Amino acid sequence: MGYDTFNGFAGDYNASDVLIQAQIMSERGLVDAGYTQFILDDFNLEAQRNATGYIVANQTRFPNGMPALSKQMNALGVQLAAYSDLGYKTCGGFPGSWGHELQDLETWYSWGMTYLKLDHCYFPQDNITQENIYGTYTPMANAIAEFAARTNVTFIFSLCEWGLEQPWVWGKQLGQSWRIDNDVKPWWSSIATVITQASYQYWATDFYGHNDMDILEVGNTNGIGNPPGNLTYEESKSHFTAWALLKSPLIIGTDLTKVSNETFTILGNRDLIKINQDPNVGTSITPFRWGNNSFKVGNPNYPAVYWPNNPASPAQYWSGNSSYGVVIMILNTANQAQNMSFALAESWLLKAGRQYEVYDMWAHRTVGTAVRSWSVTLPAHGVSALLLNDAGAEPAWLNGTCANQYFCSAPNGSLIYPNAFS
Ligand code: GAL
Repeated sequence: MGYDTFNGFAGDYNASDVLIQAQIMSERGLVDAGYTQFILDDFNLEAQRNATGYIVANQTRFPNGMPALSKQMNALGVQLAAYSDLGYKTCGGFPGSWGHELQDLETWYSWGMTYLKLDHCYFPQDNITQENIYGTYTPMANAIAEFAARTNVTFIFSLCEWGLEQPWVWGKQLGQSWRIDNDVKPWWSSIATVITQASYQYWATDFYGHNDMDILEVGNTNGIGNPPGNLTYEESKSHFTAWALLKSPLIIGTDLTKVSNETFTILGNRDLIKINQDPNVGTSITPFRWGNNSFKVGNPNYPAVYWPNNPASPAQYWSGNSSYGVVIMILNTANQAQNMSFALAESWLLKAGRQYEVYDMWAHRTVGTAVRSWSVTLPAHGVSALLLNDAGAEPAWLNGTCANQYFCSAPNGSLIYPNAFS
């Protein structure tokens, strides 16, 4: 969890912008909530390395240098984190780490950093790398291992190759997170597209590593953000809920000097953060029903007639495990309000014959008891995030019925069907 300068500032930030963000994060309880890494994304270096090959912090924007800024950040409970590129140049055109991996790790460490986001622009041509994308990430992974062997300090390694070569398959061999998509944007179609993409890679996330759904856009509304955002309050809640429950890194990406109280409420939702940071369960929630058609879960390989091959329509019904109960996410991907409901037994985590206490992770209170099903009316692009806990056997009036009616039978073999309660 942390902050990244890119979605809020793109290339235009300096030491005092950075410090103010950290001060606000500290004052508004976000540091306490767990946002402690501060990634100085692209555009913070001088254009050239120095005579001995070291990267140099931009002297105009960081006039007192990185170690001094790092100390000020540490005093607020925040640690600076590095951004670089595995190639010759960063995406913004500043020095990349190709051939300088260990040297750059030394520099970042001397700047108080132990976390690295590594981009994939300007990589060398094939006869030089003789590698695929996986292979072009190995020099830095090896340098991190060598640096750790020398110093006992292991950098957290965040891969950023935009999901081009299935990093969800191999990323965990090299680092702790891997971007699964192109740069997220502060509008709903982009958020929905990332959720759709993540709905096919949820299985890759566990304690060893995480699908990185990209820097949060929460706060980037009413023209705030770079590019200017237009997320509604409901969309921002849905966005944060999905990122938290799919166990993406939670990295703030907005200028906190400009945002409203709503933004702090969303970013500081401790109920969702505690699921994201669950010490016992590392897995993501998974879809149990797509929502827009009869398929339980969509498959992009099916013809559109079976699956609305529309990235703006991610799965709407999700469930997962946690230390605190069964997690349910219901997402209204429609452009208007709708009543949404599911039968408990649709999720592999909820048992037939039991009823469940329902806790709402946005209302922060228990909202009822679910018997057989649960319904909620959600606004356009709205979300419901629930924790369900076993509340005993179903009421006696349901005895002799079946939630899963297919081949449920009485002891004498007579099928219990149809059944009004499934
Ligand atoms: C992109 C990356 C962004 C940001 C940007 C900086 O490649 O996906 O997250 O780091 O480069 O130029």
